[in-house]
Amino acid sequence: MKTLIVYVSGKGFIKEAAERVQKALGSHAALLDLKSKSKADLKDYDAVILCGAFRAGMQPRKIKAYARKNEKALLTKKLAFVLGGLDTEEYRLPFEKNFKEELRSHAVAAVHAGGRYIPDDYSGFIRNMMEKINKSSGAVHREKWENLDTVIKAFS
Ligand SMILES: Cc1cc2nc3c(=O)[nH]c(=O)nc-3n(C[C@H](O)[C@H](O)[C@H](O)COP(=O)(O)O)c2cc1C
Repeated sequence: MKTLIVYVSGKGFIKEAAERVQKALGSHAALLDLKSKSKADLKDYDAVILCGAFRAGMQPRKIKAYARKNEKALLTKKLAFVLGGLDTEEYRLPFEKNFKEELRSHAVAAVHAGGRYIPDDYSGFIRNMMEKINKSSGAVHREKWENLDTVIKAFS
């Protein structure tokens, strides 16, 4: 089974999640960074894993556009989602708001990879906002790499 891991990452957390999945799946899995100029033809793949982290309840615009544009093809592939976010309880709700029901119910898995926040990665405006939300001015590490195992097992 050939798997395409499609991702959009703001500051590298989701990139790391996508790379961890790729490494575990090995040479039959390829990465596609939608922020790069790289392209991949879905015809060459049997399976797709879509990866993106929430910001203010929204998935990255480019991953949503990719899912919309390729919906027909994605419904013919084995499909999973890797979702990032610091909010450990409510990620399912924005998941429903961000991707169509057809794709969500077609997916064999949708896992929450957790998230992280490093203040130095952001400008003062975001830092002030995040300080209030996180109730701390420091870094937040909520990586849940073990949750990737479900996807890795399903696509191995
Ligand atoms: C401005 C901002 C808004 C965020 N909004 C959410 C959110 O609505 N829900 C959530 O669970 N996490 C939220 N997060 C946490 C991110 O999903 C987390 O930092 C993730 O690791 C980002 O991954 P990326 O940098 O690879 O895109 C937010 C982070 C920032 C900086």
